[in-house]
Amino acid sequence: MRDRIVVAAAMLALAGPLILAPSLAAGPGDPIVAARQASMKQMAAAARAIAEMFDGKRAYEPAAFKAAADTLSARAAALAGEFPQGTLGAPSGARPEIDDARPVFEALARHIGRLTGALADKAGDAPPGITADMRMAGPPMDGGSLLGKRPGAAEADPAKMPAEHLLHLILQDCASCHSKFRRKVE
Ligand code: HEC
Repeated sequence: MRDRIVVAAAMLALAGPLILAPSLAAGPGDPIVAARQASMKQMAAAARAIAEMFDGKRAYEPAAFKAAADTLSARAAALAGEFPQGTLGAPSGARPEIDDARPVFEALARHIGRLTGALADKAGDAPPGITADMRMAGPPMDGGSLLGKRPGAAEADPAKMPAEHLLHLILQDCASCHSKFRRKVE
């Protein structure tokens, strides 16, 4: 009798982590994780394509600019929904802290969503060659974006910013979110 209780307790102890684990972390090969990592890679390829066109490292093509901006915008719009509870932490690169800081994570996703949406609108009437008004005039200034540079300042209207300026702000959003919510996976 006593032995049976001991065995039952041992089984419970073993079962415990198995019951808890799925709600806390992603399993290896989780399709949600694979899908969002693929989505991130598409964003990276699209951002690189646009950056190279503006830097003269790749031929500028209005249609290719538009296609890349549309990819960025579509992927950014989906971002907030790609990190459900139960898919965070190892072995993925998503920090479990996303779950404790949903409002911050979602604000970052909304912010990059607005910027990429504005870039896609501009790319929709992109001229045949890069014009001066598509270029960034000075260092990228955001009028106080969300992670607190100049918090009191009103945020500038993305629709009024040159495309290159928008691209730089978008890349800043990638970096801000990664520094908070992405961990290096060995
Ligand atoms: C709101 C937060 C957020 C934003 C904005 C964001 N990312 Fe990510 N990114 C993440 C997180 C979290 C991961 C880790 C995902 C995982 O491994 O499950 C990640 C992973 C990645 C990866 C690695 C994917 C892989 O194969 O493991 C790349 C590349 C990437 N992001 C590029 C970008 C680029 C480029 C941008 C901006 C255009 C961007 N990200 C914007 C949160 C963000």
